[in-house]
Amino acid sequence: MKDWNKEVGYLENTRKRMWNDDYFEFLVKQVWKIDHPVKILDVGCGYGDLGTRLLPIVPDGSSYKGIDIAEDLIEKAREDFKETKYNTDFEVINLLEYEPTDKYDIVICQSVLRHIPEVKEVLQKMIDSAVTGGLVICIEPSRRMENAGLYIDDKDFDVFENDEFLKERWQQEYSNGGRDFLVGLKIPGYMNQLGLKNVSVRVNDYVDFISKSGTENYKEGKESFMHNHGIDEKYSDATNYFSARCHLISFGVKS
Ligand SMILES: C[S@@+](CC[C@H](N)C(=O)[O-])C[C@H]1O[C@@H](n2cnc3c(N)ncnc32)[C@H](O)[C@@H]1O
Repeated sequence: MKDWNKEVGYLENTRKRMWNDDYFEFLVKQVWKIDHPVKILDVGCGYGDLGTRLLPIVPDGSSYKGIDIAEDLIEKAREDFKETKYNTDFEVINLLEYEPTDKYDIVICQSVLRHIPEVKEVLQKMIDSAVTGGLVICIEPSRRMENAGLYIDDKDFDVFENDEFLKERWQQEYSNGGRDFLVGLKIPGYMNQLGLKNVSVRVNDYVDFISKSGTENYKEGKESFMHNHGIDEKYSDATNYFSARCHLISFGVKS
């Protein structure tokens, strides 16, 4: 299993380029209609990225608990939230050993099930952690959709060449540990099978657009873009890099 304790830098970099704040707020207020104080559980919370997004926009009186296997990430979360006004709690927990007892109005995860072979088992635990009428939300990437939305402004760019990179990397991940790069597309079906009601799916509207002529920290953004998408060095001097992230946001209600 990947050691996430070592990935703070990666997580910080990628979380900067993951959401449009207005779209996240739209989900919370217009789609999920969170209009009264809620108890939130973030499953595989890392250092609490979702807490920093949710807590300022959910009603006052809400609380946020994050659980994760990575001790260093949980320690960072405790440190980061220590001086804030928010009601937070963090605990080191291996999801595979987690026995839900407390109940939450919102049970959410972001980019977690994509790293865990036991997807349905963990999703069931998420459902068991929700109150009746509570919302279970899974935000997971769909790299195939993301790859289809990849473009580099260079006369030699071949839109198909990165398909091979994707295929190799993900086949390797799957055979080395059962991590499923299609998980985002499968979760709504799993949610139905496990009894959630009103299951719906959205697509995150964030587009990573890195432009020589307009992007702050262009060099850093471009390097991280090239690394994440396995882009060939021959494209290191392009004018624009474009990727629609297409994270899938699946959610359903516990009945
Ligand atoms: C890509 S990170 C996402 C972190 C956070 N949700 C975010 O979006 O910033 C995946 C997280 O899943 C956690 N994780 C993986 N397997 C786990 C397990 N068996 N139990 C608990 N957490 C786990 C990792 O420690 C890591 O923090």
